[in-house]
Amino acid sequence: MLERFQFQVSPPFRRLVFRPRGFPNRPVPAIRPLRLGVLGSGKGSNFVAIADAIAAGSVPAEVALVVSDVEDAGILAHARERGLPARFLRPGKFRTKLDEAAEAAYLGALRDAGVELVVLAGFMRILKGEFLRAFEGRVVNIHPSLLPSFPGLAAWKQALDYGVKFTGCTVHYVDQGVDTGPIIGQRAVPVLDGDTAESLHARIQVAERELYPAAVAAIARGEVRVRGRLTAGFAG
Ligand code: GRF
Repeated sequence: MLERFQFQVSPPFRRLVFRPRGFPNRPVPAIRPLRLGVLGSGKGSNFVAIADAIAAGSVPAEVALVVSDVEDAGILAHARERGLPARFLRPGKFRTKLDEAAEAAYLGALRDAGVELVVLAGFMRILKGEFLRAFEGRVVNIHPSLLPSFPGLAAWKQALDYGVKFTGCTVHYVDQGVDTGPIIGQRAVPVLDGDTAESLHARIQVAERELYPAAVAAIARGEVRVRGRLTAGFAG
């Protein structure tokens, strides 16, 4: 079933909702929750925002698995507190990516959990090759700047040092580049006089916690369409 949708970002058929003509108020059949695999290395505030939005009924998804490359990462503790499956998986010998054996272990765990969409929530390793082929068009990330400005690390600091008056956050599909995939949605955040890297980052994170659950909800409802670099269907 999953394989059928391998190359489609928003599997169109499983999300079709039949609304009979002339009966606009009839209850719409519930859609099957999209199974999420969340990868994170840090404190997990974006994961918490998504998990809480799911629990509140505003995201038609379920967390199938949370995986971290950091054994004591906050994201794992948050998942366990909520009774959600959470695993530490060793990343292998590299600092910025998974080695071959680790990549296979991550893929195996996500597949075994029946994950349909991989949600990167502060995962500090670049995913490439085999992993992205296996989940082609089904990996999303949140980045703390208005891409394509300031890709890479500490994007809020890059923005502050550059002197921009607005920065923000971006939810995007993940492709083989670093922070280069098709943009799903963005939120702007003003840079204020006297901002420090910390104060600006904190305000961006507030925006992230609104944008990411809303974007995942739109994907889960099958509303996001992708053509080349362009996406449509999510107003942000
Ligand atoms: C976020 O600021 C996100 O933009 C970046 O990593 C950070 C993760 O924070 N990709 P958290 O672990 O979700 O709190």
